[in-house]
Amino acid sequence: MNYNKKTISIHNGLNTDKQYGSVIPPIYLTTTYNFSSFNNPRKHDYSRKSNPTRDILQNVISSLENGLGSIITNSGMSAIYLIITSILKPGDLLICPNDCYGGSYRLFKSLLNKGIYKVKFITMYDKNQLLSVLLDKPKMVFIESPSNPLLNVVDITDYCNEIRNSGALSVIDNTLLSPVFQNPLNLGADLVVHSCTKYLNGHSDIIAGAIISKNIKIIEELSWWSNNIGVTSSIFDSYLLLRGIRTLYPRLQNAEKNALIIIKYLKTQKLVKKIYHPSLNSNIGHKIAKIQQKGFGAILSFDFNGSKKMLSVFLNSLKLFTLAESLGGVESLISHSATMTHACITKQEMLQAKISDLLLRISVGIEDSNDLISDLDRAFSYANKYR
Ligand SMILES: Cc1ncc(COP(=O)(O)O)c(C=O)c1O
Repeated sequence: MNYNKKTISIHNGLNTDKQYGSVIPPIYLTTTYNFSSFNNPRKHDYSRKSNPTRDILQNVISSLENGLGSIITNSGMSAIYLIITSILKPGDLLICPNDCYGGSYRLFKSLLNKGIYKVKFITMYDKNQLLSVLLDKPKMVFIESPSNPLLNVVDITDYCNEIRNSGALSVIDNTLLSPVFQNPLNLGADLVVHSCTKYLNGHSDIIAGAIISKNIKIIEELSWWSNNIGVTSSIFDSYLLLRGIRTLYPRLQNAEKNALIIIKYLKTQKLVKKIYHPSLNSNIGHKIAKIQQKGFGAILSFDFNGSKKMLSVFLNSLKLFTLAESLGGVESLISHSATMTHACITKQEMLQAKISDLLLRISVGIEDSNDLISDLDRAFSYANKYR
């Protein structure tokens, strides 16, 4: 029977325990496994390589993204690093977006500075730039859609076609939408990457990553490398991630509902200049987002329309929104890109990506929307006193 994804997410691994019939799959906290006899290993021999708890998780995440296999790593960053370093050879060209998550940008730049690979940054939503750089015969193109923090969206089907025709592999970072609102493998991507730290876990208490593909050869290769360099996720974190995924759908649906209510409210505020969210006509890629996404998501950003002093009063007055990095948890977070998630990139790089130093990003949680609006309202009125 083919279950839909909502059911897969809730039922992941339930009732698989043959010994006691425990509804929730047990956690196998073991490093090693005894051999049945000399030279006769069982299915698992060492948990860096494979573990029953992590196996269930790999199957679930793969099903949620319509892949044929997945690898769960100890962070989103190690997933990205694993893809690049396992697949590319010295001298290969990697194409990256200039408007991506700051940590990914820093990784791409450090790889460039190391001189092992050639790395080119482009304005990914400008298709002409993509077409022009494909003439240089890259081996891999890394895309974030929607991008973090400006929520720029590209036409994934069209881009992946162009990338495939040029002979390169496409990698889509799907962290901001999770498998609930977008499935890039269905749109032609070769590889999907997630920071599971975010929506997939949803409770801001673990760091993990995932790579999913329909290409078994690539999965086997990455899986071999993940054991070789030891970046597979911890067993306990795999267990927590399985638990988090059971509420993935209702969490995302509630958070998105709240996000749309907050956007409506922000539009009425003098201290809000431009709002960024794929649901908005003004957003880069809004038209294609309506087609390729199943939802607009619960991450939004806006340019604060006031002085630095007012910005700091606003942020310090919030009580329900926590001033913190990360996103995708049940709790609402707010971050200032320039001093937080993107502090590792230069002013000029920020300018190129069009990230202003008054940009605030909100990860909307699942609290009561009236409480969230009251919190914002109080903080805006405090800030307004400093006009
Ligand atoms: C879009 C995106 N990709 C990757 C990462 C890195 O993930 P992790 O923090 O799990 O290493 C992040 C982290 O914020 C992110 O926002």
